[in-house]
Amino acid sequence: MIDLLLGLQWGDEGKGKIVDVLTKNYDIIARFQGGPNAGHTLIFDGNKHVLHTIPSGIFHDKALNIVGNGVVIDPVIFQKELENLSVYNIDFKSKLLISRKAHIILPTHRLLDAASETLKGKSKIGSTLKGIGPTYMDKTGRNGIRIGDLELANWKVKYRNLAEKHLNMIKFYAVELDFDLDQLEAEFFAAVETLQKLTFIDSEEYINQALKQGKSILAEGAQGSLLDIDFGTYPFVTSSNTTAAGACTGLGVAPNKIGDVFGIFKAYTTRVGSGPFPTELFDEDGATMSKVGHEFGATTGRPRRCGWLDLVALKYAVEINGVTQLMMMKGDVLSGFETLKTCTSYNYKGEEISHLPYNIEEDNVSVNYTEFRGWTEDLTKMTEASQLPKNLKDYIQFIEDFVGVKVTIVSVGPDRKQTIMV
Ligand code: GDP
Ligand code: IMO
Ligand code: MG
Repeated sequence: MIDLLLGLQWGDEGKGKIVDVLTKNYDIIARFQGGPNAGHTLIFDGNKHVLHTIPSGIFHDKALNIVGNGVVIDPVIFQKELENLSVYNIDFKSKLLISRKAHIILPTHRLLDAASETLKGKSKIGSTLKGIGPTYMDKTGRNGIRIGDLELANWKVKYRNLAEKHLNMIKFYAVELDFDLDQLEAEFFAAVETLQKLTFIDSEEYINQALKQGKSILAEGAQGSLLDIDFGTYPFVTSSNTTAAGACTGLGVAPNKIGDVFGIFKAYTTRVGSGPFPTELFDEDGATMSKVGHEFGATTGRPRRCGWLDLVALKYAVEINGVTQLMMMKGDVLSGFETLKTCTSYNYKGEEISHLPYNIEEDNVSVNYTEFRGWTEDLTKMTEASQLPKNLKDYIQFIEDFVGVKVTIVSVGPDRKQTIMV
């Protein structure tokens, strides 16, 4: 069976940490979508690592890591990730396998991302500027370059044609962009050579064989359900399906092979980039979440917007994904709040509703909250469910009842060890 681990909010829920915690139970960890727009933070033995493309199982001896066909890979960032891990003496050739069908982010994709955002002006998406949107556009436009192309003698011809097309598009956009193409290309081709030393596989075949042999696989999502290209807060979303179905297309596994769907959420909500965020806070409470939770993007360093937990949105994400177990992160950050709030319905166009409507915008949705008494205990040293404060247990119980799924992990700090199974 293949289990899925998916973010249920706007990303940065703590997926990397939990994949790392769960890896001991799996033979294979596989990324299925997104690219280096992701930043997955792992903390153990006093060290912190941020992974962008490499699956979060890489630190465990036993597990194989696969970058699936649904992922988009920037060779330059990938190479840096490999270099950052050099002290660990990981045998990447045997432990990190890359799908031939994964698409490649070219330097000019990054430039197109920047040009597109500049053109959008005030209505920009707040993209991470990693070239994600343009690369998926070339994939669906049937122009993309794939990892498997790097095994062909003439791949540079394909590269040149596509890069030229991009440069013409940038001219057409007529925005001021400052770049040195020679330098970008030198860096890119050097990184491709590093990539070519790794193992490329037909990952859908590999994964299905592994499943037949009874191997266990965990699919690691990137971003979050509310950034899904179909079901997120469009157009302020990313360019891939971040939800459960994305694992099927991004790895080549059939829906009936899916076992558990782990849905991971923060005890409050954060969002980086633009777009609607009905429970966003602009007061002291939001500032406290930001400060105590160190809410800065792992990829871009941008401050994350903070707000109360939105149960209407969470319930929607649970439904879309078929979540079977919930994991609640960062409860420790809420210690010391006298009162906690969760959004349990929206006021939308004069009506009270409890689902996510077609389009939420700052001025057409307001929220109704249910309040809870907070707790003051420091959770970060707790190791057992029995130690958790009663008010936190009540908070969790309410969430479980609202969305109809049990919480099985409560995370009480960023370290691998600060994880309570309940
Ligand atoms: P991901 O993209 O979903 O993997 O999440 P990120 O790594 O971008 O962001 C999660 C942040 O929260 C990271 O800085 C983690 O180290 C941190 N983190 C994860 N779980 C917890 C937790 O339970 N408590 C606290 N205080 N921090 C956590
Ligand atoms: P992880 O995997 C949080 C956001 C960007 C922007 C929008 C589109 O770490 O949870 P893109 O670069 O994809 O074109 O940006 O999506 N975004 C993320 N926000 N966590 C992420 O990944 C994100 N990846 C993209 O901020 O609003
Ligand atoms: Mg992140």
